[in-house]
Amino acid sequence: MNIIPVKTGRPYEIRIEKGLLAQTGALLRPQFRGQNLAVISDSRVAELYLKPLLDSLEAAGFGRPATFSVPQGEESKSLQMTSILYNFLAERHIRRSDCLIALGGGVVGDLTGFVASTFCRGMSFVQVPTTLLAQIDSSVGGKTAVNLPAGKNMVGTFWQPSLVVCDPDTLDTLPEDIFAAGVAEALKYGMIRDEKLFDLLALDGAREHIEEVISRCVTIKREIVQNDERDTGERMLLNFGHTLGHGVESGSHYALSHGFSVAIGMNMIVKASVARGLTAPSVLERLEKGCRRYGLPTFYDGDLERVLEICRSDKKSEAGSLKAILLHSLGDGYIQPFSFEEFESFVREGLE
Ligand SMILES: NC(=O)c1ccc[n+]([C@@H]2O[C@H](COP(=O)([O-])OP(=O)(O)OC[C@H]3O[C@@H](n4cnc5c(N)ncnc54)[C@H](O)[C@@H]3O)[C@@H](O)[C@H]2O)c1
Ligand SMILES: [Zn+2]
Repeated sequence: MNIIPVKTGRPYEIRIEKGLLAQTGALLRPQFRGQNLAVISDSRVAELYLKPLLDSLEAAGFGRPATFSVPQGEESKSLQMTSILYNFLAERHIRRSDCLIALGGGVVGDLTGFVASTFCRGMSFVQVPTTLLAQIDSSVGGKTAVNLPAGKNMVGTFWQPSLVVCDPDTLDTLPEDIFAAGVAEALKYGMIRDEKLFDLLALDGAREHIEEVISRCVTIKREIVQNDERDTGERMLLNFGHTLGHGVESGSHYALSHGFSVAIGMNMIVKASVARGLTAPSVLERLEKGCRRYGLPTFYDGDLERVLEICRSDKKSEAGSLKAILLHSLGDGYIQPFSFEEFESFVREGLE
């Protein structure tokens, strides 16, 4: 088993191993003795993995937990669903000393984390991520959120889980496009920090090396998050491909998923850097090839001006400026501040 300790304000461990879902109860036992548990999942994941999880909790001597499945999909990350969950937990007499288990992808993880951080002024929660994106990204780092009609992730908290139980076998049932969206984030980690990880993905295959891929991604995110838990500096690096990616995602009216949009965003920014002579052309070629292997798009055929307009209103940008992530070389990312005007001509010229 891979055990990756995360030393944030409240330290915890990420455990990664094939078949680990069936050991969740045993893993929770040392931390949770008399507590009640409640499992939050979504309709699809519950169908696949709720029973094995409940069996493992029962085998470890936990009573039957309260369970709630939200409808699958981003719409469940809402204040309305948060309120439904608060009432559900209150009716089931869940208290501050109890523990929530998030069984699912990033939607369930973000929603459950947000509920855990606010219900009874904050309670423990455990992440059991079941998408590649959740295993390598959203379950690590302690950001929780729900969406507002005005935008994604507009309401949220920093709240670390007590444990992350990561079973790569659960990824076997993921639809290929959702798996590929997770690979886009894995390629991102490779591009900014780990050339070997990038080659593993681009040349050898993510599924063939899934445990190593997850461990390497999580290790990178852990290092960055430990240095910058509240996202005021180095954590920006994780935003590689994301400023333009968000523009593409929102510009496509969410027809393109986050992962697909990030793939496009990474290609756009690297293309612009190559045009300015800041990055070697071979980096772009390798990125394009890596994306194509997973059916990830490498360019945007929509309205570039609209994308740039959205970048201006990105919640991470400051008055008149933004920070883009560029690459010295593959595996070596850095933060580059731009004024909006500079950034726009940088991107436009790169894509001409
Ligand atoms: N907190 C963070 O730091 C952070 C980071 C990145 C993304 N996110 C958030 O994560 C969310 C996206 O997460 P996601 O991509 O995991 O989406 P998701 O949770 O919606 O899961 C995608 C789909 O896959 C299904 N699914 C999940 N696991 C499955 C499995 N093992 N087998 C078959 N189907 C399965 C789900 O039912 C869902 O329909 C977004 O809301 C995003 O904002 C958060
Ligand atoms: Zn992302």
